[in-house]
Amino acid sequence: MSIDDILMQDETIFRDQSVFNPDYLPTIFLHRESQMEALKLCLRPALRGGKPLNAIVVGSCATGKTTSVKKLFDEAEKFSDKILCVYINCQLHVTRYNIFSQIYKKIFGHLPPETGIPFSRIYEKIMKHLQSNDQALVVALDDVNYLFQKKNANKIFYDILRAHEEFEGVRTGLLAVISDIEFRYILDKNVKSIFIPQEIVFPLYTHNELYDIFKERIKAGFYPEVISEEILEDITENTDSIGDLRVGIEILNLVGIIAEADASRSIQKKHLETALKKTSSISLKNTLQNMSQREKTLLKIIIETETELTAGDLYKLLNEIKPLSYASFDRLLNKLEFLRLIDVKFTGKGRKGNSRVIILRFDQDEIDKCLI
Ligand SMILES: Nc1ncnc2c1ncn2[C@@H]1O[C@H](COP(=O)(O)OP(=O)(O)OP(=O)(O)O)[C@@H](O)[C@H]1O
Ligand SMILES: [Mg+2]
Repeated sequence: MSIDDILMQDETIFRDQSVFNPDYLPTIFLHRESQMEALKLCLRPALRGGKPLNAIVVGSCATGKTTSVKKLFDEAEKFSDKILCVYINCQLHVTRYNIFSQIYKKIFGHLPPETGIPFSRIYEKIMKHLQSNDQALVVALDDVNYLFQKKNANKIFYDILRAHEEFEGVRTGLLAVISDIEFRYILDKNVKSIFIPQEIVFPLYTHNELYDIFKERIKAGFYPEVISEEILEDITENTDSIGDLRVGIEILNLVGIIAEADASRSIQKKHLETALKKTSSISLKNTLQNMSQREKTLLKIIIETETELTAGDLYKLLNEIKPLSYASFDRLLNKLEFLRLIDVKFTGKGRKGNSRVIILRFDQDEIDKCLI
């Protein structure tokens, strides 16, 4: 190996490694034009003295929901001071007090004292500020399912959306962001009467869209010619089959680190192979960890049944272990399909020609290893 091939310690193939960080906000945001347009339409009435529209932002993991909302808020606030946009990560802030403290902080530049001030005072200060500045308030509750686990959602939705009843002229809107389709149903059941949203759907990226996104990320993150077209194509293919862009971005970062450790100036197939081995089990593990017990039970039955299963067979088997309605079963099945653990295919057979078969998308042993 010539000295040229060996990376000196301070040499790197990364132009900017931070572009692979989970919280990186891409400057070039491709293939989300129609969703961004729909989001902007929700804010438009607020710019003209009206009430912002409510929306539910729904789609699988890593389809760009959080990025879209953050970009929307950045743009809106640059454009006009008539809208106050507050982004809340509900994994971090679940209580009513916490959430309104974040809104308070956005307005006054600091959090309210942690003790000694009742919720009503904070609420009143926020609403009076909106009234006197004639500002509309739009709150994005990202990963809003966390509020439902604590059963806080109803009150919080109510506090935000019904503010005008107590504070005349106050205009408020809510963007609820979720990545769990089962949750869509829970949301309907719980807050239907006060929350009538537009639905903005974020579909999975197609193969070509993933390719374009990676191409831009590579341009920003690596020096030219570090990644060949062939490697890029392989990463795209792999990400497409997993259905999670975040995993693809992780692979890009990892493959760079592996190539550097190998003192290589470019990324080679062997580096990619090592990276893929590491990430595939990590992403499967993450998916399985976040599943409910019922979802896991259903998956176990699918794994343990040797023969091809139809949805009807599967329902009978699950019903013997845990009685449930067919509608609930169907939602569980949709969830597994949504998580891309299974494919559900219509066979054209059965009574009405709509019998469905279940196909496992992962190797049984691989799932078994992660399903403890
Ligand atoms: N259109 C895009 N162009 C460039 N990068 C994107 C695009 N969409 C998503 N990303 C990147 O993919 C990752 C995941 O995106 P984001 O966090 O917005 O997804 P999400 O839909 O909120 O996912 P989750 O449901 O898991 O919260 C981020 O690193 C983001 O930068
Ligand atoms: Mg998100």
